[in-house]
Amino acid sequence: MPGSELFGVEERKEVNDVLETGILFRYNHDVPRKGHWKTREFENQLAQFNGVKHALACSSGSTAVAIAMAACGVGLGDEVIVPPFTYIATVEGALLAGALPVFAEIDETLCISPEGLKKAITPKTKAIVLVHMCGSMAKIEEIMQICEAHNITIIEDTAQGLGASYKGKPAGTFGKVGTFSFDFFKIITCGEGGAMITNDTNLYHRADQFSDHGHDHIGDNRGAEGHPLIGFNYRLGEMNAAVGVAQMRKIDYILAQQRKNKKILHDTLAKFPEITFRHIPDPNGDAATFMDFFLPNEELTRKAVKALIEEGVPALTGVQYWYDNNFHYIKNWEHLRNLTSAAPIYANIVETPQDYNNYKEYLPITENLMARLISFVVKVAWTDEQIKELTTKITNAFEKVLTKEMV
Ligand SMILES: Cc1ncc(COP(=O)(O)O)c(C=O)c1O
Repeated sequence: MPGSELFGVEERKEVNDVLETGILFRYNHDVPRKGHWKTREFENQLAQFNGVKHALACSSGSTAVAIAMAACGVGLGDEVIVPPFTYIATVEGALLAGALPVFAEIDETLCISPEGLKKAITPKTKAIVLVHMCGSMAKIEEIMQICEAHNITIIEDTAQGLGASYKGKPAGTFGKVGTFSFDFFKIITCGEGGAMITNDTNLYHRADQFSDHGHDHIGDNRGAEGHPLIGFNYRLGEMNAAVGVAQMRKIDYILAQQRKNKKILHDTLAKFPEITFRHIPDPNGDAATFMDFFLPNEELTRKAVKALIEEGVPALTGVQYWYDNNFHYIKNWEHLRNLTSAAPIYANIVETPQDYNNYKEYLPITENLMARLISFVVKVAWTDEQIKELTTKITNAFEKVLTKEMV
């Protein structure tokens, strides 16, 4: 949780600016806000950092996906290709738009693979939500070629990838839009918040209007604005944006620290020949939020997780066994596989493009990878002593498990 590790005086100062004026709303109120436009400032920082024309802040990474769907014209009758390893919001975003998710295989990048994408395409495919999982990118060049050939819109869910890049180009700038999350667990946080970035000015205006009940945001009188389209309220508040402004100023420091600390974890794990690493197409573009690695089989992976817990590693960092984790892998999304919801619209879906409960049949590669994957959360504020303790505990755990296996 790098951003939240660094919450301090800078964040308090930005929030106090807002509290002193009392203008918690992002639009209008030009005089009493005394020059404080925190959401606008945050958007400018995001656009500049990613080298794009437009950034639109919104209330969460989930609503950013929903806005992206609407702005890209994804809706009823469409299919959207999604990964089975993501946060569930990616899939909910497609369903909320009225489209049906089609799950595609991932590969050792932990993102949708070019081969998986090809297999998932049907005549109804409108878009792919390409999730750059755990701070690093998919095989973007091959994926872009396939999408161009099939006229598929790329929405990059970069919720976990702010600061990642491929050959110097930031994650989230390859497709039509990129979306981000700034919830409490992300590389920078607003508490809750999200954003969408794009170079397409028309798309940006549609997204901007959709995110605020269709308001066209022309002029300084909200009551007199036009409403070219139907939307909803996905706005970000000034208090959350104020935290984001302070956090964005720390992004370069966060990335540098993560990369330094991840290398130490990598070198510790690399001493064990049984351990292999997640494939990163451009290692220089790794945001390094997670240290992801594979063991040879599920049994050994479960033993390793147990040994890491027994050694006390979770007191120093997160040990993620995503395969069992409730919200990141299709195995544990029973409600979603059965389209069970408070909203009756899902019950009216009579036919899905895949039998979501039979995912093991069409996602064998993903199943195999997920059962063998462990991730450590890379922290920013570890002291030298903490890193030493952590690497010792990790080494102890793997020596037990892997030595036992070899006997
Ligand atoms: C890949 C991905 N997409 C979307 C989201 C949703 O973001 P939020 O929690 O801000 O709604 C997350 C959050 O974990 C995520 O990891």
